[in-house]
Amino acid sequence: MPKEKVAVITGASRGIGKSIALALAAQGATIVAMDMDQAATDAVVAELQAAGTTALAVVGNVTVTADVERMIEAAVAAFGRVDILVNNAGITRDGLIMRMKDEDWDAVLSVNLKGAFLCSRAAFKVMSKQRYGRIINIASVVGQMGNAGQANYCASKAGLMGLTKSNAREMAKRNVTVNAVAPGFIATAMTDALPEKVREELAAQIPLERLGSAEDIANAVTFLASEASAYITGHVLSVNGGMYM
Ligand code: NAI
Repeated sequence: MPKEKVAVITGASRGIGKSIALALAAQGATIVAMDMDQAATDAVVAELQAAGTTALAVVGNVTVTADVERMIEAAVAAFGRVDILVNNAGITRDGLIMRMKDEDWDAVLSVNLKGAFLCSRAAFKVMSKQRYGRIINIASVVGQMGNAGQANYCASKAGLMGLTKSNAREMAKRNVTVNAVAPGFIATAMTDALPEKVREELAAQIPLERLGSAEDIANAVTFLASEASAYITGHVLSVNGGMYM
């Protein structure tokens, strides 16, 4: 259990990131919630504090090195350490490849992949000295199987799985584990944007016959952040209702 551990979660103001923050807090972790959306991040932190959790909001952009370093510095200044990093911030800019704009490619690769690199590098400086850390990257089933219309997103999530394995090898000698969770289709703002018919078609392809919930992902992250997963590193944990196996 991550009791008295300090967890930094990016993209924590809503959706899966917020569920992860609530789930780790329920296990006793102190939460640093990072997001670009100030009002929503402050609201999550207020909710956590009202429930008795020690929590801090950091507003910033995961693609900006100075913001990421400020986030880790704020965690260390407030709580003295960083035990858990969840790289959850992510975006989509979907489109067929022939029409995909350069800026849509760059934006998705920058948030989903470079953001995770910058946060991992900054957190590892602290974790390395502590000789303890858990880094969990939120990938996607489409990074494993591909998806027409999401070349940028699929490439970013496949890249994130490569980053997970490389960092797992590099950080292991400092007792830092690095794993990924690959969600299937999860009911959040990202999938609410899809037409009802598309969501029904998606659910029909899933052996467990439903979209996942943000809590399904948070449960997997809680396990990977806990002492119970100490001997697991470089793993991609599918949480997809059997959609891809
Ligand atoms: P969401 O769009 O509800 O939340 C994403 C959060 O990240 C937002 O609060 C947003 O403000 C923040 N964010 C975006 N760009 C940022 C940046 N540059 N710096 C800091 N924060 C930033 O998305 P959702 O559905 O909760 O997804 C969370 C993660 O799970 C993403 O990495 C997504 O790719 C992944 N995922 C989601 C699936 C789904 O079906 N919803 C399926 C598979 C993976």
